[in-house]
Amino acid sequence: MKNKAVKIGRNLPCPCGSGKKFKNCCRNMKKEISIKEEYKNRYDIILKEPHQIEGIRESGKLLLSILDRVEEMIKPGLKTDEINTFVHKETINAGAVPAPLNYRGFPKSVCVSVNDVICHGIPGDRILKDGDIVNVDITPILNGYYSDASKTFFVGTPTNDGKKIVAVAAESLKQGIEIVKPGATLGDIGHAIQHYAESRGCSVVREFVGHGVGLEFHEQPQVLHFGSPGKGTVLVPGMVFTIEPMINLGKKELHVLEDKWTALTNDGSLSAQFEQTILVTETGWESLTPYDL
Ligand code: MF3
Ligand code: CO
Ligand code: CO
Repeated sequence: MKNKAVKIGRNLPCPCGSGKKFKNCCRNMKKEISIKEEYKNRYDIILKEPHQIEGIRESGKLLLSILDRVEEMIKPGLKTDEINTFVHKETINAGAVPAPLNYRGFPKSVCVSVNDVICHGIPGDRILKDGDIVNVDITPILNGYYSDASKTFFVGTPTNDGKKIVAVAAESLKQGIEIVKPGATLGDIGHAIQHYAESRGCSVVREFVGHGVGLEFHEQPQVLHFGSPGKGTVLVPGMVFTIEPMINLGKKELHVLEDKWTALTNDGSLSAQFEQTILVTETGWESLTPYDL
C-alpha cells in the first residue's frame, strides 16, 4: 500500500493515547522541541523531561528524609562533624552519593554554616552552643539525579536576632518561589527576594546565587537573589533550578577564609539561608524538595 501522509485534525484525540486533543498534545511537540533546543543553544539551560523530573523528585525525597533526621540531632554540644558523619552514612545507605564530597576540592559531604558563616561551612570540631543558628545544606545524587536544599535551624533557645534572621531568610525564599511561573523572569525572582529582605532591614548576599540543577550540581542559569523586574531569562516549563537566598542581619559584604570555602559576614552579623529545588510547571511551580516555609 502507498504510504500517504496522514493529516490529523487538531480537535481529534491524540494518536499517542493521552486522551487529550491532538492540538493540546503531540501537535505541540515540534514547538516544545524547538524551545528545548533554543534554551540549550542560547542559554545552555537543560529543560528536563518527565522521567528526569521524576528522578530529581526521588532524590529530593531522600534529601528531605535526611534533613528531617538532622533536625532531630541538632542540640547544644553537637559537633558539626557529627552532622557530616550522619549525612554521609545515610546518603550512602540509600544508594546515593553526597555531591559535595570532593566537589572542587570540598572535603566533606555536607555544608554546615553556623551564625556569621553565610555558606560553605566545612564540618569539623566546632561544637554547637545554645542560641546558635546552623544551616545544613544537602545535595544527594540518586540514580544520577541531583537535588539541592537547605534549612537553617535553631540550636537550643533562639536569640531575638536569630529568630529575626531565620524568619526573614525563610520568607525571602517563599517570596522568590511564589514568583515562579512560565513567562516570569529570573529578574522578577531576584527583585521579589531583594525587595522583601531589604524591607525588613536585612541585606542580600551577592557573591553566591541559585542555579540550574538536576543532571549536574551546578547548571545554567544563575539565579540571582537581587535584580529588576522583567530582566533576565524568561521562565519556561521544564526548567529546574534552586532558589537559595543568603540573608544577612547586617551588611552584605563577606570574606572567604584561607580554607577557600567558609564565607563569613564582614561585620560579624548573623546570616541565614533556606534553599529548595524548584520546577517550572505549565501553570506555576512545584518544589522537588518541598517543605513548609
Ligand atoms: N549546596 C551548595 C549550593 O547550594 C553548594 C555547595 S558546594 C560544596 O549550591 F562544594 F561546598 F558542597
Ligand atoms: Co544550591
Ligand atoms: Co545547596
